[in-house]
Amino acid sequence: MALHERRSCAACQTRDAVVGIGNPFYPRVTGKNGNVIHFDGSPHLLAGGNDYLNLATHPRVRQAAKDAIDEFGVGTTGSPLMNGHMALHERLAAELAAWVGKEAAMVFTTGYLANLGAIGELGQMNPRSMIAIRDESAHASLIDGMRLGGVRGWKFKHNDMNSLRRRLERARERTDKILIVVDGVYSTEGDIAPLPDIVELAERYGAEIFLDDAHGFGVIAEGRGTAAHFGLADRVGYISATFSKSCGASGGFVAASREVIQHFEARCSPHMFVASLPPAMTAATLASLQIMRDEPQRHARVMAVADTLRAKLRNLGFTVGGETPIVPVFMIGMFGSLRDPDIQALTHDDEDTQARLREEALRHKDTLGTFRAQRWLMKRGIYVNPFIPPGSIDPLLRLSVTDAYTPGDVRKIVDAFDEMRHMIPALAGSPTLLVDAD
Ligand SMILES: Cc1ncc(COP(=O)(O)O)c(C=O)c1O
Repeated sequence: MALHERRSCAACQTRDAVVGIGNPFYPRVTGKNGNVIHFDGSPHLLAGGNDYLNLATHPRVRQAAKDAIDEFGVGTTGSPLMNGHMALHERLAAELAAWVGKEAAMVFTTGYLANLGAIGELGQMNPRSMIAIRDESAHASLIDGMRLGGVRGWKFKHNDMNSLRRRLERARERTDKILIVVDGVYSTEGDIAPLPDIVELAERYGAEIFLDDAHGFGVIAEGRGTAAHFGLADRVGYISATFSKSCGASGGFVAASREVIQHFEARCSPHMFVASLPPAMTAATLASLQIMRDEPQRHARVMAVADTLRAKLRNLGFTVGGETPIVPVFMIGMFGSLRDPDIQALTHDDEDTQARLREEALRHKDTLGTFRAQRWLMKRGIYVNPFIPPGSIDPLLRLSVTDAYTPGDVRKIVDAFDEMRHMIPALAGSPTLLVDAD
């Protein structure tokens, strides 16, 4: 069998699932400005991005990037170890450390690499002895970091402290090298990790904490992030984040004690052997940080917009989560139930097998319904993110807003969801029904 055939089967299943609906992934962007994004030339309200403070197209941020290109050129063409380490990177690292409340920080070319490098290195420093206990919704880059470090990885239920405590008890029987790995704000659920409880458990069981604050940095605590929000930056060992969300740029960082950062700089392959962050992205991120400091009202505004949207969608009867600019609308159970004739038609001699088949069919229906709902919203000029397992625990539509949303933007989304409520039976139908539903 060809190597690629074996590896691509999960992707093939998703591809098969969207036949007749249209692939909701990889929509082709042909333009963007603020909250308006063009797909194949047609404008959509961007209700599924990460530019929470609307800084990606901010004039000061653009200008900073242009100036850096004029001064230094486009790329660094070197890793930090060689010719890629810039004074600009050092300035950014110092500002980031002070901003999130840690002694030191180091800049990576992406947030993914920051997680990969830091967790990978912690694992490599503790061969065969370290256990990482992660929230089940933790980001893929954290899991890949565990793989790189050869770390034993265990999961606990999302934001469930009893589940974490049970894992810690078991881990403690085996090792004293335990790392708890959590996001500050979860990228799909939009909820905040209960950091005070996590810190208390970590200290009780002698564990350290790695906090990926990709979606909290720039938003929570006027931008300082989740650890600062709870006043716990000094009790969290490692904080990482990306510049590709609130800063509107790209790149990432890890902040920790000076000793740890010096060690990482000397040891992390995803830092040492990767061309460093381009000057334009470094300067853009510095400009974004300055805007966060100058205009704290942006953070309050984006939270208020999200709260309004959440309340209005709940009023329509949708199950909505989150407590940040991320507003997930949970689709599980919207498109069918175990009493559906289609699902009842699935029978098997073995009762357990029959129950499993029906559960799977129900989940499949929810997944297809979620894809159809996303496509239906696209046709109404609104882009939201479809999430299905394993990308999320359950199928959901991830909405997110920015501080530049107008009341009209919120109304456009709410009106579309109001209309969509009445389309549910059609959206739940067979893949070809989308055409009829229109
Ligand atoms: C929670 C989380 N961590 C890390 C990353 C990786 O960041 P980057 O896009 O800078 O690689 C992302 C981006 O999707 C994320 O959502």
